[in-house]
Parts: sequence; structure tokens; C-alpha cells
Amino acid sequence: MNMENNSHDAPVYGAATLALHGDDSLNALSDITPPIHMTTTFRFPDETEGCVENKADNRWHMYARYSSPNTSRLEVILSTLLYGHVVSYNSGLAAINAMVTYFRPSVIAIGVGYHGSHKVIGIHQKLRDLKKVDLFNETSWDAAGLGKGDIVHVETPLNPSGEAVDLSYFATKAHQRGAILTVDATFGPPGLQDPFIHGADVVMHSGSKYFGGHSDVLCGVLAVRNQEWHKRLLEERNYIGSVLGSMESWLVVRSLRTLEVRVQRESANAEALVQWLDNALNGLGVEMIRHTLERVQHASLQKEALQDGWLKTQMPNGYGPVFAMWMKRKEDAERFPKLLKLFHHAVSLGGVESLIEWRWKSDKSVDPRLLRVSVGLERVEDLKRDMMHAFQQLA
Ligand SMILES: Cc1ncc(COP(=O)(O)O)c(C=O)c1O
Repeated sequence: MNMENNSHDAPVYGAATLALHGDDSLNALSDITPPIHMTTTFRFPDETEGCVENKADNRWHMYARYSSPNTSRLEVILSTLLYGHVVSYNSGLAAINAMVTYFRPSVIAIGVGYHGSHKVIGIHQKLRDLKKVDLFNETSWDAAGLGKGDIVHVETPLNPSGEAVDLSYFATKAHQRGAILTVDATFGPPGLQDPFIHGADVVMHSGSKYFGGHSDVLCGVLAVRNQEWHKRLLEERNYIGSVLGSMESWLVVRSLRTLEVRVQRESANAEALVQWLDNALNGLGVEMIRHTLERVQHASLQKEALQDGWLKTQMPNGYGPVFAMWMKRKEDAERFPKLLKLFHHAVSLGGVESLIEWRWKSDKSVDPRLLRVSVGLERVEDLKRDMMHAFQQLA
């Protein structure tokens, strides 16, 4: 695999196979599932060597803040799936913090997206002079002097709307100025999109979502193709200390085995639900839905982008499992989740079970009529029936 430029040499195996066998070379024991190593410290072989070779994964480990077998295994698998050198962290925001710390931009262009990312930037602004400008307003980039060493940060698809952003467009804009393109690809994991092909320099994920996939682990990931960046990010993580634990790493490895099949099915389920709701809004489906639902948003409804062709190129296998709906009234947005049986009312996303969130409850900056839906693996007809029942109750 050529990681120093953005082209990928064709890998021998597809992503679904690599998720299951990308770490086969580390199988020193006969276990089918990897053993869990709970130790934080490793015996020295003798006084002349700095660290010991751990026979379970053929790597050298000394202390778990630097590296450990389960975390290394996770990074090996993810490096094959993301086509980059991977550094893992103990949450998505820890990964963003590590990224801003390492690249130390003077200016960062960023859109609305996940509110927590803005909070991380806010902490850096408290420590030093860092200008934040609007991703979609290039005049503001000029005013702040966005250029060499700065960051253009694109989240795609976006939280909470599920809409996609054209990566190639922003890659060109960033690179023309000597800036780098960092991509928060949490909503579009491998199996749906590969940001490096479209010009990303850094790909970031909240692994708490689709990588973990079962709502039971916090994880963050940075992938880079530049070896020097990889080395430095690893070095800085040693001292920032935000490492993933062995148990968490094991859980994410377990989940990565089924990543592709999960995200593609969840994405297809989401698209079917979105189409059903959009048809109702356009007078082609269930009339009653129109009484309470104002609008629905998802990458699959971005007609212009689909006509332009970039969206299909960027997301050839589906448009993501998250979408947004706006009710006509705030009261209905608050009640709707409580009337559903198959969608849990909860924050976060990316698990096998469907979730819905009245977004205003956790983020007061959004429209109080907004609901964010994370579609899981239930049978889609059952999900429709569940929503239908809730719409009936509201009507
Ligand atoms: C797009 C996006 N980026 C980053 C994060 C932060 O991830 P974590 O909760 O793992 O810190 C989230 C969390 O919801 C997110 O949705």
C-alpha cells in the first residue's frame, strides 16, 4: 500500500476480508478471538534492552501508556481499513485535541457540525492565539490569513443533519493555500467512504460510534499517510496520555470484524426510512405524516450533489445511517421519541440499535424542533410501523 500519496495501490483483499484477517500476522497463540492483556507493564528481557518483545503480537511493549498488545492490534486492523497509519485515543474528542495540538494551526476553518469539536478548539483558544473561521465563507479565511500550516476541517456527513460535504472541493481550496484538510469521517466509516482518495491529509473518527458499533465503548482515531506525522503523533500521545485501554481496544476489534456489513445495512435502512418520510412530505405517501413533520434531511436527498456526481463518487455504497427530521412544533419533537418503541431516546449514534434524540435536550444551539435519528439493524418495515404509530398518536 502506498501511503505517501493519496492513491491506493489495489489491496490484495477487500475491506470485509481485511477486517477479519488484517491482524492474522499477530496470531502467535491458537485463540481465534485475541486474548485480552490487562497488564500495564512488561518484563524487560535483560538489562541491555529497553523493552520486551511480547510474543502475543510480535511487538515490543514496555508500558501501556506507550503501547500495548490489544491497542496495537486495533491500530494494525484500522490501518488497513483506513489506508493510513492509525493512532488510537480514548475518545473522539481526545483525537481532535491531539490533532490540533500537533498541527498547531494559527487559523482553523470549520463548519457547524458536532458542537464538541468547537469546544476543543475553544480550549486551545484559551491557551493561545487561534482564529476560528467559517468553513463555508472563504472571505473569512482571507480575513484571518488562512494559509500554510493551517487547518481546513470538514465533517462529512455532518452531525446532526447527515448531509455530505464535497471533500475534493475543500481539499483543493486548502492545498492551494498550503493548509491541510482534516476530515471528521465519523458518520461515514470505511464501507461508505474513503476521505484519503478525495484529498484528506488527516482522517479522524469518533470510534465510539461505528467502530465500536454497540454503544459500549469510547474511542477516537486519527489516520495519516505521512510517516513523520504518524511518528510524532504517537510520541505526543505518550505524554498527553489519552490512550485507549486494553478492554476497550478488544471491544473495538470485536466490532470491526462486522463493520462493513453493519454500516452498509444501517445506511440502506436509513435511506429507506428517509425516502418514506420524504414521499409523505411530497404528497406521495402517508398523508397524516405531513400534519406533524416539516422537513427531513439526509445526504440521499441532496439532489444537486447527486446530479453533480461528486456525492455518488464520494459515497458509492450508501449515504450514511444518520438523518435529521424537523417537526412542525417543538412540543411534537419533544413527545415523538417517547412514543416510539424501537428507537431508544438517547444521545450518540452508531450502535446496532436505532436511537432517536430530541437534539435540543443536549445542544441548546439547535432548532428545538430537530430530531436526530441513528438507524440500526432492525427490520426497516418494523421501524416504519413504529414511527407510523407515533405519528398517529401525535395527530
Ligand atoms: C461527528 C463527531 N465527531 C466527534 C465526536 C466526539 O466523539 P467522542 O464522543 O468519541 O469523543 C462526535 C460525538 O458525537 C461526533 O458526532
